Amino acid sequence: MSVQHTAVVGAGTMGNGIAHVLALHGYPVALIDLDEELLEDARTTIERNLSRQVDKDATTSDAKEAALNRLSLTPDTAEGVRSADLVVEAVPEEQPIKADVFGTLDAHAPDDAILASNTSSISITWIAAQTKRPEQVIGMHFFNPVPVMTLVEVVRGQRTSSATFDIVAEVAEDLDKNPVAVEDYPGFVSNRVLMPMINEAIFCVMEGVAEPEDIDTVMEMGMNHPMGPLTLADFIGLDVCLHILEVLHDELGDDKYRPCPLLRRKVTAGQLGRKTGEGFFEYG
Ligand code: 3HC
Repeated sequence: MSVQHTAVVGAGTMGNGIAHVLALHGYPVALIDLDEELLEDARTTIERNLSRQVDKDATTSDAKEAALNRLSLTPDTAEGVRSADLVVEAVPEEQPIKADVFGTLDAHAPDDAILASNTSSISITWIAAQTKRPEQVIGMHFFNPVPVMTLVEVVRGQRTSSATFDIVAEVAEDLDKNPVAVEDYPGFVSNRVLMPMINEAIFCVMEGVAEPEDIDTVMEMGMNHPMGPLTLADFIGLDVCLHILEVLHDELGDDKYRPCPLLRRKVTAGQLGRKTGEGFFEYG
C-alpha cells in the first residue's frame, strides 16, 4: 500500500503543524475537528506559517498555494477519513477521548488504512487495542513547531506490523523528517529524557539555586540548547509537562520522575506557560 490520501484528527498546535507538512509535501489532507472555530483558526495558522517559510525562502509562493489547495477542513470524522490511507490523530491526551476517536477511525477508515497517533504519553499498544486492526496502528510522534523540527519518533506497539512501520517511516522521510524507531515504553525516548531535565530545572527554581532566566542561560550558553528548559516548558505547556511526568512516575514507578511541587502549583493556579500568557515567564 502506498500513501496517497491523508487525514489529521485534531486541529490544535500539533494537528495543524502535521497537516501543514503533509500538505506542503504533496499529500491531500483532510483536517478534522469537531470545533469548527478551531478548524478555521488552524487554516489561518497554517497560512501564516507557510508565509513565514516563503519569506525565509524555505518554500515558494506557488508551493504555498498548492499546499493550501490540498488542505480540506471538516468537523465530520467519518467523512474526513473515508478515503484516507494514513490517519494521524492529534487529539487531547485523555484515554477516553483517544478510545472514542480510534473506535470511530476503525469504523470509517478504509480497511487497509494505517491509524497513527501523535501521542506523547499514551501507550500505542493500548490505543491499538481499541481497534480491530492493531497491526496497522503506530505512533508517529512529531515535535513542536512541526514545520521546523526534523524528528519523528516512530513507535511500534506490541502488535504493529513491520509493513506498517516501513510505510510510516517512508512517509516521515518524504516529509523531510528523520524517523527514529522507538519501542512502546512510557515517554518513548524524547520525553523520558527531556522531562526529567525540565523537572530538575523547576526544582532549581523552587530551591532558589538560581533565577529562572539564569537557569535558562546556563543551558542555552553552556550546553547550546536553542531554548532553556523553563522557556521550553512554557512553550510545551506546563500542564502537558506535568501530565507526562505523572505518566513516567506512575508507569515506571521510579521516584526520579516525581513532578516538582512548584510545577503542580503553577498548573493548579492556571499558569500554564505561553498559552495562558504566564508560566515561568510572562508573555505579552
Ligand atoms: N512554522 C514555520 N516556520 C517556523 C515556525 C512555524 N511554526 N516557527 C519557527 N519557524 C522558523 C522561523 O521562520 C525560522 O526560520 P529560519 O531559520 O529559516 O530563519 C526558524 O524557524 C527559527 O525561528 P525564529 O527565528 O522565529 O526563532 P528561533 O531561532 O528562536 O527558533 C525555535 C524558534 C525553532 C522554536 C527554537 O527556539 C527551537 O528549536 N526551540 C526548541 C523547540 C523544541 O525543543 N521543541 C520540542 C518540544 S517537545 C515536543 O514537541 C514533544 C512533546 O511530546 C512534548
